[in-house]
Amino acid sequence: MSGVWHDEREQSWLLEMRSACYAFGLADDGTAVRHWYWGPALPRAAVAAARVLPGRWEEHLSLSREFPDEYVPWGGLRYDEPTLRAEFADGTRAVAWRYSGQRVSRAGEACTLEVDLADAAYGLQVTLYYRIWDGFDVVERWAAIRNDGDRQPVTIRQALSANWWMPAGRRWRLRYLHGGWAAETQLTDATVGPGKLVLESRRGTTGHHLNPWFTLDPDGASTETTGEVWSAALAWSGSWKIVCETTPAGRVHACGGWNDFDWAHELAPGEKLVLPVFAGLYSGGGFGAASREWHAWQRAHVLGRGERTAVARPGWPAPAPPTASASPAASALATAPTASALPTAPTAPTAPDAPAAAAGQPELRPVLYNSWEATGFAVSEDGQAGLAELAAQIGVECFVVDDGWFAGRNNDRAGLGDWTPDPVKFPRGLTPLIDRVQALGMRFGLWVEPEMVNPDSDLYRAHPDWVYHFANRARTQRRNQLVLNLARPDVADWVFRTLDGLLSANDIGFVKWDMNRPFSEPGWPEQAGRNPERIWTEHVRNLYAILDGLRAAHPGTDFESCSGGGGRVDLGILGRVQQVWTSDNTDAWDRVAIQEGFTQVYPAQVMAAWVTDSPNFLTGRRLPLSFRFHVAMAGALGIGGDLLRWDPAELAEATRLVAVYKEIRPVIQRGSLYRVASARTDPVGASEYLSADGSEVVVLCWWGPGQLGGRLFRLRLAGLDPDARYTDADTGAEHLGAALMNVGLDQPGGADFGSALIRMRRS
Ligand code: DGJ
Repeated sequence: MSGVWHDEREQSWLLEMRSACYAFGLADDGTAVRHWYWGPALPRAAVAAARVLPGRWEEHLSLSREFPDEYVPWGGLRYDEPTLRAEFADGTRAVAWRYSGQRVSRAGEACTLEVDLADAAYGLQVTLYYRIWDGFDVVERWAAIRNDGDRQPVTIRQALSANWWMPAGRRWRLRYLHGGWAAETQLTDATVGPGKLVLESRRGTTGHHLNPWFTLDPDGASTETTGEVWSAALAWSGSWKIVCETTPAGRVHACGGWNDFDWAHELAPGEKLVLPVFAGLYSGGGFGAASREWHAWQRAHVLGRGERTAVARPGWPAPAPPTASASPAASALATAPTASALPTAPTAPTAPDAPAAAAGQPELRPVLYNSWEATGFAVSEDGQAGLAELAAQIGVECFVVDDGWFAGRNNDRAGLGDWTPDPVKFPRGLTPLIDRVQALGMRFGLWVEPEMVNPDSDLYRAHPDWVYHFANRARTQRRNQLVLNLARPDVADWVFRTLDGLLSANDIGFVKWDMNRPFSEPGWPEQAGRNPERIWTEHVRNLYAILDGLRAAHPGTDFESCSGGGGRVDLGILGRVQQVWTSDNTDAWDRVAIQEGFTQVYPAQVMAAWVTDSPNFLTGRRLPLSFRFHVAMAGALGIGGDLLRWDPAELAEATRLVAVYKEIRPVIQRGSLYRVASARTDPVGASEYLSADGSEVVVLCWWGPGQLGGRLFRLRLAGLDPDARYTDADTGAEHLGAALMNVGLDQPGGADFGSALIRMRRS
């Protein structure tokens, strides 16, 4: 069981987790909280040895302070990246605080430590939160900032969630995910040298270009299966930043949270700002073990958990009490101005596989069909129904109508904002199509992009002031659209009511929530001089509030986060949606790299992956249907091709492979993922999935263009019982676990762009 040990004499805290621990303590004068240790479990008696002592050169004039503060208020001799910068009404711009108390609480499987700090002269209070979970090595950290003064606001100019210190005296490699539209989550490495490495989004959303996750490993020596890895991931879906910095004394720390660029929040007397979770973990088992820990923890304590966390505030109906697994990012909504009509939380959501859901497992993702690549904007009731019939025939469980269904939406130049069915395409509304889809035994799903508006729309004509804009500046369009100012309470209220109305009037079991452009001209002229810079965070807090409210009001509806592909994938949104759209690039060979990056931190269960047409509409590459399936089967399988153009043989093969996927789905979606080969460095890429009880093994393997004379390769599996025998479900061959792990399977081979699916059961 996880726990917090507080040594009162030393004034230190030890967070004891499954196999790791985290320790910190007060500075002697009580004016700072100093990091001591983060790594493999230590006996309590050893913790004091980690205590920070004043550096030898502390008084040297050219050095900055080298004390590793857990949370860093800017002030005094502080020159590295702060986690908090505040300005008081009298012009003082430095925080000086003192420890003022601590609390430890337990709720269910979570143990939470709160450490209070109070500014010595002003009413500024900061609480540092540390939450750990039974059975996991993840520490969730965040902070809450309160203005306890009764008269003056405090302007918060920088408020990061946490600061992570690496052990001293080592050299570090930073590993992170970068990319772009259609090329998300590419794994990359950088050597941490003197200075700063900044990963960030200034776009208003998580972004395609960098993802808020990293690992640090000493000497760049860790591998997929060996070595120490420290990793952190941020639960925020707006502009963010993570700064990895080497101090002048050579210590490396990484702090992260809301991006302070162009941002400030005037904290009114009595107001509290709760910052998003920045979760961290230590693993001694290489990158693979770190990923499995992220996956298991998210499945247990993140996915879809955010909706129960809203905090009561004036004008809102009473929400359900926060649960142990509540996401503090949602609690941040405590101060957000927002809709007045959000409903109370439901009693129990319905889940198709209720026993598993009841046991704490997120529900299995259905096989879905999405119409986007097949029909684009040319949506009609009969056209969609034709696709739905074939989709049902091959085994699809949820049929999703993508863009193009609403009023005036014949291309991307018009319609966004007018969320009623197009009267020409759907003269009888959506109900007849929904009925047909449901009669085929599938759930009905619908695409929306609620944060956006086309200038050519009734909404924009009625409310041109509802978009972000600056006076005397052009409103920059991207994909012919502008961003609604969701920070405005009336706009947030309108979005909630519109979506609530759509979901109430139609039996919609799945919503794909898209967001296709970044912010520009992030102005709110009516609030000039009244802290309009807060839009960067208010937008996301209201987005979360709307999603939380919709999920509470419509518990039978699942949500998918999409942002022009994988532009909004992070722990914050994953607390509110069941899955994410991984990339608009559905070329299966390109997906192998995208998925390898994605699974570094996010679980297969949320990784939506479609089988689409060949040649691929973006890359023109032709790939076998089995290859396209085997790549998409590595996540939450979907179909996105134009089934009306698939011939009977292709439809038959698709039917067989969808049925196979349903058999292996619990292992893929709930099992442990071992990336047993990487197409970046090996002749093949391969992922092994092992069921929780170890009895079922699924291996998916993919290879690209062959090279004559290329090196021979054997596929060594992992995580098996060396003494057990495993029987291949298709060939009947029997293998000893020790042989599978140490000798390996013969390299699967064949024509260029081939793939294999291997299923084994422990005998
Ligand atoms: C971008 C998404 O990523 C696509 O899947 C599709 O939904 C289009 N938007 C629709 O406009």
